[in-house]
Amino acid sequence: MAGTVIFTGANSSLGIPAVNRLLEQYPQSTLILTVRDPSKADVNTNRLRDVISQYPKANASIHQLDLADLSSVHKWAQSIAKDIDNNKYPPIRAIICAAYRWNLNRVPQSTVDGLDETLQISHVSHVALILRLIGKFRPDGGRVLLFSSDTHVPGGSVGERYPPGIPEDLNLLAKPIVYEDVFGRGFQNYGNTKLVITCWMYALNRYLQKDADLRNITAVAINPGNLVDSRALQTNTPWWYPYMQTFILRPFLPLHQLRDPTIRTAALAGIDVAELALNPAYAGERGFFTFLKKDQSSAESQDEVKQEALWAKSLEWAKITKDDTALKVVIE
Ligand SMILES: NC(=O)c1ccc[n+]([C@@H]2O[C@H](COP(=O)([O-])OP(=O)(O)OC[C@H]3O[C@@H](n4cnc5c(N)ncnc54)[C@H](OP(=O)(O)O)[C@@H]3O)[C@@H](O)[C@H]2O)c1
Repeated sequence: MAGTVIFTGANSSLGIPAVNRLLEQYPQSTLILTVRDPSKADVNTNRLRDVISQYPKANASIHQLDLADLSSVHKWAQSIAKDIDNNKYPPIRAIICAAYRWNLNRVPQSTVDGLDETLQISHVSHVALILRLIGKFRPDGGRVLLFSSDTHVPGGSVGERYPPGIPEDLNLLAKPIVYEDVFGRGFQNYGNTKLVITCWMYALNRYLQKDADLRNITAVAINPGNLVDSRALQTNTPWWYPYMQTFILRPFLPLHQLRDPTIRTAALAGIDVAELALNPAYAGERGFFTFLKKDQSSAESQDEVKQEALWAKSLEWAKITKDDTALKVVIE
């Protein structure tokens, strides 16, 4: 199935096996793989290069894209749009937004754009990227794949100390607020961001469905599962997280699966991500998925009033106006 696949966080724990699956099963695709650090010093980008090198006919390129810098996201999306217009790349078949950030071991950080880092990297920059490129999909449409998680559901994750929730004042979501309980509030901030992403996915689908030219593009938010071998457990986490991963989670995976059937490896999640993005069996699907199965997201995420409020606020955070996107109606 020809078409461009844009993949942020392509060198992430699930990104690398997903790229492998795309290259293996969908070799006609043109892969535009974005990473924060494309240098030879980045071990994960080198792993991504190793995977690509196993497919000599691969049509894949690695691009530097720092999602913590909104102006470079806008610039990069504009350059990709131009390259599609000039036939350097074919029209888009899928945009996969895997990159994310959490802060569980230090006070929240703000980006150069003045937004909370977790919210901007995981959500706001993806909004800018998707809406800038939404007019460059194939005429028969395609898939926007967003990443949710069980942390978006109150009581959904063992790490939760404070339940996720959308505050009345949405500005609070973007403000890095310093709390004493860095772990608990950092975890809540991550859960809130995954809730925002899930809400935004429903709003995006509504706007796409109302647009005669874009209604074949469908958005899905996947819970890929809790990944025992992800490097997420080693990045911006307290000292005991990597120990828990090495001595408790990985060796006793089958036991943990009795408690939480969504615990699995990043390799399995990567396969599902590639399939949900491109397999025709899922074409036309919209909404929330756990693995490859349609599922119910949290009650709060299904509140249309909150979805619309977050849609409007996300446009503002992402600095997207009606002139920056092919969506005919950007706000109702
Ligand atoms: N791991 C889990 O158990 C789990 C559970 C549910 C949902 N998910 C979701 O699944 C997705 C992938 O998770 P994962 O575990 O595979 O992630 P991961 O291995 O921790 O990788 C995170 C990715 O985000 C990138 N990133 C961070 N800051 C960035 C920035 N400023 N600009 C661009 N990229 C940036 C990282 O690049 P650098 O390494 O260069 O920083 C890396 O590629 C995420 O959306 C996550 O929320 C994961």
